[in-house]
Amino acid sequence: RNLIYYPSIDSTNNEAKKEAALGAPEGTVIIADEQTGGRGRLGRHWVSPRGTGIWMSIILKPQLEPAEAAKITQLTAAAVTTALRNVTGCEAGIKWPNDIIINKKKVCGILTEMSAELNTVNHIIVGIGINVNVDPKEFPDEVRAIATSIKESVGHEIYRKEIVLEILQIFEELYLDFLRTRSMAKSVEICKKYSVTLGNAVRIISKDKIIFGEALDLTEDGELVIRNEAGAVEKIISGEVSVRG
Ligand code: BTN
Repeated sequence: RNLIYYPSIDSTNNEAKKEAALGAPEGTVIIADEQTGGRGRLGRHWVSPRGTGIWMSIILKPQLEPAEAAKITQLTAAAVTTALRNVTGCEAGIKWPNDIIINKKKVCGILTEMSAELNTVNHIIVGIGINVNVDPKEFPDEVRAIATSIKESVGHEIYRKEIVLEILQIFEELYLDFLRTRSMAKSVEICKKYSVTLGNAVRIISKDKIIFGEALDLTEDGELVIRNEAGAVEKIISGEVSVRG
């Protein structure tokens, strides 16, 4: 496997982007022990202390339309959740579209970024950040209330390498299956099984509007199906979701 390790780097997503532009092959993984400028969704900072988390990015070069990039986020959520459950026995769940949670708190975030032109994807960078042995005291107060680590939930330290290998293994299986079949069936099945969103009242911020509704289902492509306040059923491709019920 093509795996590039840094003791410390600004952001593995930034580095992966550079490597992808320089011709790094699909499947290249950038992993760091510490990020000094870790990035989350919506321009947020991602706390990435040294030695206690998994901060990594995977370079993909699929033949995909830009509109399909959200599928890769679903596939990644399925892989990470399955891997965390297999290795640690914890009851990880998926808060659609891209948060992995344990005991209602976030333990992992996924940041999918793409470069595309003329309706074709050049590359997709899948960034995965997992609070494995992070001491919750390292989180700023506002993050502390909503974030947890695997150590905090299972009560002891977990060997990060085991989790990394399990994620990459399962990710590869799901990704190759997706490329071969062009179907998201396997990933979506996992996302449904471990969803903490489905069946609940949700509030979704999507493209500057706020939608209240009930999360009903995932489509075969991994979009969220909701019944909105007016009683109409609609599909959401991506957005910020809070689970209310
Ligand atoms: C989020 O939930 O907002 C997404 C967080 C993604 C964090 C990971 S850590 C590895 C990769 N490099 C980054 O700078 N961000 C992602």
